Amino acid sequence: MKLCMIGTGYVGLVSGVCFSDMGNTVYCVDNNTDKIDLLNSGKVPIYEPGLDEILKKNHRAKRLIFTNDLKKAVSKSDIIFICVGTPTIKNTNSADLRYVFNVTKELKKIITKYKIIVTKSTVPVTTGDKIEKILSNLKNKNLVDVVSNPEFLREGEAIRDFIYPDRVIIGTNSKKANKIMNALYMPIVKKKSRYFSTSRRCAELIKYASNAFLATKITYINELANLCEKTGVDIKDIAFGMGSDERIGGRFLRAGPAYGGSCFPKDTRALIDTANQFKTDLSIVKSVVKSNDNRKTLLTKKLETIMNNRLKNKVITFLGVTFKPNTDDMREASSVPMIKYLNKKKSIIRYYDPSGKKGEFKKLKNVKFFKDIPTACLNSDLVVLHTEWNDFKILNFKKLIKKKNFKIFDMRNIYSPIKMKNLKINYFGIGR
Ligand SMILES: NC(=O)c1ccc[n+]([C@@H]2O[C@H](COP(=O)([O-])OP(=O)(O)OC[C@H]3O[C@@H](n4cnc5c(N)ncnc54)[C@H](O)[C@@H]3O)[C@@H](O)[C@H]2O)c1
Repeated sequence: MKLCMIGTGYVGLVSGVCFSDMGNTVYCVDNNTDKIDLLNSGKVPIYEPGLDEILKKNHRAKRLIFTNDLKKAVSKSDIIFICVGTPTIKNTNSADLRYVFNVTKELKKIITKYKIIVTKSTVPVTTGDKIEKILSNLKNKNLVDVVSNPEFLREGEAIRDFIYPDRVIIGTNSKKANKIMNALYMPIVKKKSRYFSTSRRCAELIKYASNAFLATKITYINELANLCEKTGVDIKDIAFGMGSDERIGGRFLRAGPAYGGSCFPKDTRALIDTANQFKTDLSIVKSVVKSNDNRKTLLTKKLETIMNNRLKNKVITFLGVTFKPNTDDMREASSVPMIKYLNKKKSIIRYYDPSGKKGEFKKLKNVKFFKDIPTACLNSDLVVLHTEWNDFKILNFKKLIKKKNFKIFDMRNIYSPIKMKNLKINYFGIGR
């Protein structure tokens, strides 16, 4: 098939690359010319394991085309995927749909023969209706079918998630569009994933319902970790005991910092906003958002207590600053407010992240990026394990830090408290 992905970010690029690898011809469009130039020069603008190789292979085979020319890409394609961002509007809970609607308005000017318009972007329930309304002024009403196909891939595991998804959700009432979407996804669905055809509104809401539920699971175990700290119980044992119940499941029960990233924070907020519009009180999701916001302060305070409330001139090294491993994405990473606070308190902050230096800390005077773990850690007063990259899982802290009386704050519970105690290392975890 001939496909057009509008927006070549984490979702558009990964989906485009994977669809092309399945034999489709894919036009990846972005209005960011630097991004398209970079892609055309064979470079990948995001950190996503495995993407580089598949991208280059399909680009060379001319099945994968990167362009700024929306008109050409759309006219050559049968299915148009909208994959632009839907961030939160500043100081509100609402999803900013302007990028989605801008694209829709562009499409309206271009489309002259039947196309399927698919929203892969995460959009609030009824957005498809609004897209359809914008397009309804097209000369021929039957020129488009607007379909919802929410994406569930995770950054860092994106290729595997796209090729082996648990489910493919297609929201449309059009039999024709459903048939075409089914054919497109057949190579994936054949490998044991579920194909669920439903209404467009339902598909839109499934995405938010899923993300809010996962965010709830994380927040729940995080709150329980607070209770474990007060009662001398290890949260890992609680998670194991709970997670062994198949009704609960063990995933997303790892206590740690506040959840971050480009999806959970904005999607939980947007779900609350949508529910408000429809005069429905999603009190659980509201408390999840509140609890998660509180957690950023709570862990910063815990760090301060670990340092005996003496932060000035203390060398604090962050290992990992992204919101999770295997991504370079810093959107809503809990390291940002923490480091900003410590910087205000005049700590000397060093950080190392396998995905490189971060623009978020550029303006902070005493926050420096180090290119490797040993130089970042040497003579630190405190090492904070913020993100569980594999690179941090077998460190010899005594050899690395060298200084006497250093402390470790393991926000991901990577290390064993008993082993640390035996090594006489001043070690602090989460909920243990
Ligand atoms: N990142 C994830 O892990 C993930 C997972 C599932 C769903 N989603 C959802 O997918 C959507 C996209 O997320 P993302 O992380 O890929 O975003 P992103 O910010 O990485 O990428 C969006 C891209 O769209 C481009 N763009 C914006 N307006 C455009 C226009 N008019 N024409 C062409 N290109 C345009 C931007 O330049 C950018 O490259 C969001 O709704 C998000 O919630 C994201």
